Amino acid sequence: MNSKASVKDYIRTIVDFPHEGIMFRDVTTLFADPRGFRMAIDQMLHPYAGVKIDKVVGLEARGFILGGAIAHQLTVGFVPVRKKGKLPGTVISQDYKLEYGEAIVELHDDAIEAGERILVVDDLLATGGTAEAGIKLIERLGGEIVGCSFIIDLPDLGGRKKLESLGVDVQALCA
Ligand code: PRP
Ligand code: ADE
Repeated sequence: MNSKASVKDYIRTIVDFPHEGIMFRDVTTLFADPRGFRMAIDQMLHPYAGVKIDKVVGLEARGFILGGAIAHQLTVGFVPVRKKGKLPGTVISQDYKLEYGEAIVELHDDAIEAGERILVVDDLLATGGTAEAGIKLIERLGGEIVGCSFIIDLPDLGGRKKLESLGVDVQALCA
């Protein structure tokens, strides 16, 4: 019998990855399990039943896996926010701080039209820096953020507060 009752039961923690002191939440074990993966996608969709969404934006890298599945389920387009230098077309860029470092993310400048209603998707919310950078990129193109959906929220790192202070609806399946 499958003893895993919730999405959290499928996620493992790797100690000291990618740096000492980081408790890395590894969702590959969730994605690898058909029941776990479906449970996660269904639960991420649940708060948005009946809500108008024009596009799903996924944050690199695990947001691509979740966002692709969610966009397919909603029959809407999928748009990637990628780390610097990966997108081939003309991009807009945004720098941000991470729990363990700094980075720049980019969005194709023609990927979103003004007024489009966007659901932002990623696996994990830590400091909120990545999601905030993604939100800024989307808003610079005139997109409206319907919400940000994550599997995991690490509340001690303040990401939810940061995003909510921007007026963004935050959903997460577990902490
Ligand atoms: C992780 C995670 C989020 C981000 C959350 O990605 O998948 O995208 O960190 O952290 P934050 O809330 O502090 O910004 P990571 O930076 O490890 O990149 P990767 O998915 O490309 O490996
Ligand atoms: N991104 C930032 N912090 C993380 C963590 N603890 N586990 C997985 N991804 C992360």
